[in-house]
Order: sequence, then structure tokens, then C-alpha cells
Amino acid sequence: MKGLSKLLGLSVLLAVGCGSPSADKGNFIEENVANAAQQLTLQTDLIEQSGRILNPRTTKADGSIQYIPIDDWTSGFFPGTMWYIYRLTDDPKWLPLAKKYTEALDSVQYLTWHHDVGFMIGCSYLNGYRFDSLPAYKDVIVQAARSLATRYRPGARTIQSWNVDRGWQSERGWKCPVIIDNMMNLELLFEASLLSGDTTLWNIAVNHANTTMANHFRPDNSCYHVVDYDPETGAVRARQTAQGYADESAWARGQAWALYGYTLCYRYTKDERYLKQAEKVANFIFNNKNLPADLVPYWDYDAPNIPNEPRDVSAAACTASALYELSTYVPDKGYKEKADKIMESLSSPAYRAPVGTNNNFILMHSVGSIPHGQEIDVPLNYADYYYLEALLRKRSLEQNTK
Ligand code: GLY
Repeated sequence: MKGLSKLLGLSVLLAVGCGSPSADKGNFIEENVANAAQQLTLQTDLIEQSGRILNPRTTKADGSIQYIPIDDWTSGFFPGTMWYIYRLTDDPKWLPLAKKYTEALDSVQYLTWHHDVGFMIGCSYLNGYRFDSLPAYKDVIVQAARSLATRYRPGARTIQSWNVDRGWQSERGWKCPVIIDNMMNLELLFEASLLSGDTTLWNIAVNHANTTMANHFRPDNSCYHVVDYDPETGAVRARQTAQGYADESAWARGQAWALYGYTLCYRYTKDERYLKQAEKVANFIFNNKNLPADLVPYWDYDAPNIPNEPRDVSAAACTASALYELSTYVPDKGYKEKADKIMESLSSPAYRAPVGTNNNFILMHSVGSIPHGQEIDVPLNYADYYYLEALLRKRSLEQNTK
């Protein structure tokens, strides 16, 4: 419980000195929470009417909702969104839905064929454990972390993100591909270590963060998407991209994962190197000449046809959430103001869908993977998840609540 109380204490501790919220700030949060609750009510009504447990991810090419199986990497976000809307509204109607959609992921705790079990179980079960103290969830969290730990390659001191024996990954000649996204999955390892006392999980997270810090970043502090290692020796075999514009470009969501990932590593370890790394990524993002004035990035900072390129709202939402946490560790560098600006943009009609549109997702204009021709300028469940997380963090900071 140490990790849990530390995390929950964060918002209370750092809200001190923020002053009373202005009426505008209060209205901003309330209005956006009410809007999200209306959209999510429509979404869950559809699911409940189906008589099944469905997990919405995005909009398909034919305009209908894409529902996903539980082993999809995004399966934790919709259950996680239920926990956040429950927390943001205090409306008990969300609790049975949050539990039901979370518990539908039960068998994910044993998933070992990719690294995203951290997203899947972290967003669902870990939030449930935090918000509703459900003791049975602890065992799932610890088992999921053990499943993730099976992907640790001690020779390279890193967690292998993707298998290389199937799909398009098998065509790249990789041996041990590690993607920057993997930083997000370390939260599960840190929490599971605190919950179980198993220090192996903690050490794997630290080793992974250190290896990534050594090899994923360029001199300008942007990061590569994929680094491929020799799993026996740890030698770097290649630095490439999968979802970015080019191997040497800065894929927008990758920068967001890096910012969030090193901020969370600092939360658990208090290692200053991780804080500095997070700040370096923030500096890259906010000094980038291609970052638009509304702070919602194009899908890649080096996309060839800027300004005629799709934005990626999912990157902006994840960045805002990370910046709220970073602002609690470094209060004097304007990180909260940057996050506020992103949230204002995302909550404007340019990005927030009118109720009853957008297949009941909250935000429009995200990008899944342009190189794969998938999910271009669509809603994405993880954009909505990090947006609500950011709203909750903003509220905690401004209103001295959890
Ligand atoms: N983790 C996969 C993505 O960011 O698209």
C-alpha cells in the first residue's frame, strides 16, 4: 500500500500553495466532466443494450464502432475510463460498470506474448485497486507484473516489447525490439513490487528505464520509437521507427510516452536522473518549431507536409497528464500552465466532440499508425483515457482533492 498512499498523497501535498480555484477553473472542470459523463452514458447504454461486454477502441473505416478483444493492447483504457469517470463524478452508477468491464480482462494477467499487459492491467485493475480498495485486484496486478517480467532479457537489461515471430514485426529482422511505449508499462512493475514485496519486479523496471535512457534518446532529447538489441549482449542492433514518419523523426506519441514514462519512474524511485530525462523531453516538445500554437502536435514532429498533416490528440492528452504530475515535482517551470493550455485546446470544439457524435468518444482527431494506414484522424480510447486522467489531476491540483 506504500505506493498507493504515496500516489494519492501527491495531489494533496502539491495542491498546497495553488490557492483557491477561480470560478472559471471550477466551471471548466465541471463542464468537461459533465460532457464526458454524457458521452460515456451513451457509450455504456449501447454496450449494456447489447447484452455483451464490449470494449470500444475507435471508429472503423465504415464509420461504426471498433470493439476489440481483451488481448488487444488498448483493452485496459475503456475500463480505466470508467474508473476515472466514477472518480470524477462520484456517481455510483459507474462503479458496477467499471468493475464489470475491468473483470472481463481477468485472463490478461497471464498474457506474455507482448509487453502491453502494463497498459491493460494498469489502467483497469490498478485504478480499481486505487479507487475502490478491491483486495482481490491485488493478486491480478501482481500476476500481470510477473507475466510482464517474463519478457525481461537479462543480457540486455531490458524488457522485449514485441515478439518477432509474427505479423509485420517478423519482417524487420529484429531480435529484441524495445519501443519507447514500454516505459508506460513500468508503473505496473513498480506497483506490483510494492504490493508483493518482490524486489525483482522493481529491479527489472529500473534496469529497463536505465537501458532505455542510455539508448533511446538523440542529442536533441527526442527519442527513437524502436531500439533493437542483441538479447544476449545488449548491443544495439538498430534504431528505427514503426509508427513514426522516419527512423530519425520524432513520433509525437512516442515523445509523450517518454515524458510520462520518466515522470512516473521519478514518482517511484526519486532518482533525479529520471526527472531530468522527463524535463529534457518536455523541453524538446515545447521548443519544437513544429508544435502548433494550441499545443496539440502533428502526429510526428517531422512529418513532411506540416501544416497539412493530421494532429494526434492522444499524444496531447498523454502529455497534459504527464505535465500535471511533473509540475508537482518541478513547480516553477510552467509545466502546469502548459498542461492547462493543452486541456483548453482539447476541450474546445476543435477537438471535443458534440454529445451524441463521434461514436460516443469524447475527443476527435487522433492517429493510430499512419505508416500502417490505420486509424488516421479518428477517436481513440486512449486519448479519452489520458484526457480524463489529466482532468482528474488538474482538479486535484486546483481543488486540493484526490
Ligand atoms: N503503444 C502503441 C501506440 O502508441 O500506438
